Amino acid sequence: LLSISDLSPAEFTKLVLNASSHKAAVKAAFAAGEQPPKPLHGSLTGKTVAMMFSKRSTRTRVSTEAAVQLMNGHPMFLGKDDIQLGVNESLRDTSVVISSMTSCMVARVGAHKEVVDLAAHSSVPVINALSNDFHPLQTIADFQTIHEHFPSRTPSDSSLGLEGLKVAWVGDSNNVLFDLAIGCIKMGVDIAVASPPGYGIPDAMRQLILAAGEGVAKPGRLTETQVPEEAIKDADILVTDTWVSMGQEQETQKRLKAFAGYQITNELAKRGGAKPDWKFMHCLPRHPEEVDDEVFYGPRSLVFPEAENRLWAAVAALEAFVVNKGKIL
Ligand code: CP
Ligand code: NVA
Repeated sequence: LLSISDLSPAEFTKLVLNASSHKAAVKAAFAAGEQPPKPLHGSLTGKTVAMMFSKRSTRTRVSTEAAVQLMNGHPMFLGKDDIQLGVNESLRDTSVVISSMTSCMVARVGAHKEVVDLAAHSSVPVINALSNDFHPLQTIADFQTIHEHFPSRTPSDSSLGLEGLKVAWVGDSNNVLFDLAIGCIKMGVDIAVASPPGYGIPDAMRQLILAAGEGVAKPGRLTETQVPEEAIKDADILVTDTWVSMGQEQETQKRLKAFAGYQITNELAKRGGAKPDWKFMHCLPRHPEEVDDEVFYGPRSLVFPEAENRLWAAVAALEAFVVNKGKIL
């Protein structure tokens, strides 16, 4: 699982629904005093999941370790100073060796090619835990969150029933946006992106995002602008992410200047004409410059349920790719 573009609409739908149903079942088991909770437990017994992280992480690391533990497997965290991950050894050699001893590699890398190289030489499933281009586990959790907060719609085998919703992304065109946009197109959700000049979606990435609509009966529409208010018009969900992704720290001052005016606030949402009951989402970690406290901690914010859903997204992905060998049942 390197990007949401690897999944058909039916597979993506099933992963999201599985994440939601595991959440309900495990919570009910805990509430009934089952220790460990019977649902899931044992599905990874005897299996080690290698977690190879070349960048910091709170949510992805904790959710993956907790998910493997819920399934009774062994999560093996390997930080950038622990193993030869692209340093002093080729990714090919690392991949062949680690996959000969474990059941899955979950990898957080820099260039997307690094996780592609790991997958090309691995004998076990590889799950992208964030690359410079994509963040599929985040997108599964994001759609789970949307599915749970817009409950009146009816899912089908190949769609979550979210057609007609509009997401507005205001901020940097980055890894989190790219998989989110692919998910939106596949699920028939419109996505409008507002980024400042020079920080829009690169041409090759736009083509890939639009290709997600091929074969989809009613794909979501992608629109792009440099004007936040234009993107926000009639949006159901406002989303942003950091303006300075990991690896871009040396550009911080330049970026803070370029993104001035893109902070999500209630005033901006009102000026832009968001839907009256609009919600706010953010993958975290968050900085106040991209969204103020009033929105981030306010009643419209879904950010903490969204973060919790990372656990259930990890469970669903491990079940599909490790337990069921890539069959999304
Ligand atoms: N959203 C997310 O991936 O957070 P971490 O970088 O803390 O894992
Ligand atoms: N765009 C951010 C996401 C972190 C989860 C980054 O790449 O640093």
